[in-house]
Amino acid sequence: MTEQKSEKKPAMKRVMSGMRTTGSLHIGNYFGSLINYVKLQNEGYECFFGAMDWHALTTSYRDSESVGNYTRDIIADWLAWGVDPEKSVVYIQSKLPELLELTMVFANLTPMGWLERVTTWKDAIEEMKSTDTHNLGRFMYPVLQAADIAIFNGEAVPVGKDQVPHLELSRDIIQRFNRIYGVTLKEPQPLLTENPLVPGTDGRKMSKSYGNIIPLTEEAKSSEKRIKKMQTDPARVRREDPGEPTKCPVYYIHKLYSSDDDLAWVEKGCRSAGIGCGDCKGRLIENREKVMSGPRQRKNELLNNKQELDSILSRGCDRARAEAAKTMASVRKAMKWSGGSFS
Ligand code: TRP
Ligand code: SF4
Repeated sequence: MTEQKSEKKPAMKRVMSGMRTTGSLHIGNYFGSLINYVKLQNEGYECFFGAMDWHALTTSYRDSESVGNYTRDIIADWLAWGVDPEKSVVYIQSKLPELLELTMVFANLTPMGWLERVTTWKDAIEEMKSTDTHNLGRFMYPVLQAADIAIFNGEAVPVGKDQVPHLELSRDIIQRFNRIYGVTLKEPQPLLTENPLVPGTDGRKMSKSYGNIIPLTEEAKSSEKRIKKMQTDPARVRREDPGEPTKCPVYYIHKLYSSDDDLAWVEKGCRSAGIGCGDCKGRLIENREKVMSGPRQRKNELLNNKQELDSILSRGCDRARAEAAKTMASVRKAMKWSGGSFS
């Protein structure tokens, strides 16, 4: 079935992406990335989506148990929100031994200076002083990421802007590999899509460390509580004070869930003080619940039915592994690295 599909569109680039499994997904992850996974999949691209648990361990190595739990949680969210395991290959990074093999090959081709220059490493250095993640695994994070992509010959990599430095380095490493061994692993390109602004509940950037995230999937009651507590335009002190929606995080979340008619109602009502913030939030709570209730039910089913999720995962990991083994075989061949080929 899947093979037929890829035959139909032979010229389409292969899509590869993934997320590190350090926490449950929030709506920023959905509207920034996951929504594009689903879109690309439904446009007929051959897609590989990995739950990056090795990448998670580079910083969360003390919480290895939760990394495992988040891995299942995140994949359950992917499936609940539209990733179709019949169309896309959904896998867990640590289930691919060939990936680590390619990572070691790439590690030898990566001058340390390249890694030192990656902006995400420079930014992380301050933070790392307090979190003891000044470790080799974290340093070579981009090498592993290059292998993630190359092991599937990924060409189009849907990611957020923050990942562009990693993608550039991936390209450099892959080019170096191709030059040295005279082969052509595909050179990846980031696939940047315009992401909507998704502020946290307090209007700042959404971040776990600010405690302001909005989970992608949550129970109706907690969603309601969370939205009721959200900050609004500070100019609306009293009900009769007019407000400005573009200064209010509630409005930006409305934009993600509400119809144009409802948005017009918010804009007009807010600016004229025709509606109160309670009314505005109430409408958002309703609209969000409408969108979320189906996926929530599906996610709960998946998490409560170990067998079903396990079988989806094991099939996805098998498919990913078959592809990874193929690439790694061609890599060994290109390297004429046959000292160990006695089996
Ligand atoms: N570094 C990416 C992030 O933090 C996650 C990731 C790991 C990734 N490997 C990848 C993304 C390969 C795209 C391709 O978002
Ligand atoms: Fe924000 Fe809505 Fe209140 Fe306006 S009415 S300040 S958009 S919550």
